[in-house]
This record gives sequence, structure tokens and C-alpha cells, in this order.
Amino acid sequence: MTSADTCIEFDDVVAGYGEFMILNNLSFKAARGKITLLLGPNGAGKSTVLKTLFGLLRPRQGCITLNGQNVVGVGARSLLLEHGLAFVPQGRNLFGQLTAYENLELGGITLGIKTARERIPEVLELFPRVKERLHSAASSLSGGEQKQLEVGRALLLRPKVILIDEPSIGLSPMVVQDVFKLLRRLADAGTTVLMVEQNVKSALKASDDAIALESGRLVLHKPADELLRDPHIERLFLGGAHAAPAPA
Ligand SMILES: Nc1ncnc2c1ncn2[C@@H]1O[C@H](COP(=O)(O)OP(=O)(O)O)[C@@H](O)[C@H]1O
Ligand SMILES: [Mg+2]
Repeated sequence: MTSADTCIEFDDVVAGYGEFMILNNLSFKAARGKITLLLGPNGAGKSTVLKTLFGLLRPRQGCITLNGQNVVGVGARSLLLEHGLAFVPQGRNLFGQLTAYENLELGGITLGIKTARERIPEVLELFPRVKERLHSAASSLSGGEQKQLEVGRALLLRPKVILIDEPSIGLSPMVVQDVFKLLRRLADAGTTVLMVEQNVKSALKASDDAIALESGRLVLHKPADELLRDPHIERLFLGGAHAAPAPA
């Protein structure tokens, strides 16, 4: 990857919680307009990578750049508004008692309510199911509709880079495919996606590149299709890269 193709770069990043370091001299690059899948066993530090990139954790050491600009110390608000970085965290992150529409309005609040309202229809075009439930309480939407609403809320800001953490949790396989297809369309239109997923095979099919962490270190960086052909893929990511060989 040449530096012109690089969107996200971690260079020797050390970050963690209090005294406890989770990312240990982590370096990787993610290409612009591609879907990079971030894999690794539970506790490897995948969510910590996204949180650190989004400015929620400040690295103890190292450099993080977005399109060549250093973003260490830049807060989430300015990452969002000036660098076009959006984050869809793991789990449910909606205001359940507010309607789907109100959740979208709140998502766009930093744009000003007028602009937010103007953009809502374009986002809803992508999510016809959410459009049908627009004036229902968000908590009454299905899990898949809620995740779509969360992605839609992030898209209101027309992000250039989307960080998405385990979008498939709680969703049916068909809805998961819809989410992946949407990410594919966004990437094909130039958006950079960094996705954490445990649903390894179907996520690999939807991705361009895969990187894997173990104990906060990079242990693999390969094209997704190459990894998909690896017969040891399950063992690699479910048991950790150094798991004992499977019985013959
Ligand atoms: N807010 C936090 N405070 C302290 N430790 C945390 C916090 N969040 C995560 N951790 C710890 O950091 C490690 C990595 O967590 P995480 O990045 O969430 O892993 P992953 O997403 O790969 O499962 C885990 O050991 C976890 O317990
Ligand atoms: Mg996680």
C-alpha cells in the first residue's frame, strides 16, 4: 500500500486503561475506500483499537494518522466533524424511548437541526425497513432495524471513515448480509470501513483486507479472499493464532 492509498495508520501505538496496556506497539495500515476487517480472539484489543482511533482513549505512545494527518489528541467531536470519522459501537446505542426519527435528528445535531432534517430522507432511502417504522419508539424496532438505524445515524454526517464494532451481534444471518452489503456499497463509493466482526467467514466475504490482533499486537495482515481460502481459518481466529494444531 502506498502512502497515497493509506487512510488509517497506527504506528507503534501503546494504549490501555489506567496502568493496564492493551495495545502493545501496534502498527497497521488500512486502505482508503476499502473494508478492513479487524479479527482476533476476545480481549485481543479490537474494540480498544476503535476507541483509540475515535479519540476515546489517548495512546501512551505512538502515532495515529488519518489521511496523513496526526489525530492523536484530537477529540471525538472534531474527528467527526473535521475528519469525517464515524463510530458505530458494539451493542445497542439508541435512545429507546425516542422514535427512530428523533434518534436520527439527535445523530445529526452537530450539523444543526435544519441540515440534519434535510439529510434524513437520503439516509432513509438506504433503509426502507426503518423508514416504515420511523415514528415508532426505537426500542420497538427489531434488532436488525435498530442496527440499521444506528448505521443510518452515523451516515447522516456523510462520514469518510466508518468504524463499526461487531455489527452482526443479535442479528439474523439475512440482516447481517444486508449490513455487509451496505458497507460494501459505501466502500465502493469511497468510504473507508474498519470493521470488527467475530462472524469471521461471512465478514471476510464482505471485506477487502483482514488484519488480526493477538494480545494487542498485529499477527496477520492479508487480503480477505486469501484468508478465506486458508483451511485453518477457524482455528486461527477462534482459538488464537498460536492455538494447538487441530487433530488430523
Ligand atoms: N473500560 C475498560 N477498563 C479496563 N479494562 C478494559 C476496558 N475495556 C476493555 N478492557 C480490557 O481490555 C482488554 C481488551 O478489550 P477489548 O478491546 O474490548 O477486546 P476485544 O474487543 O478484542 O474483545 C480486555 O482485557 C478488557 O477486559
Ligand atoms: Mg470488542
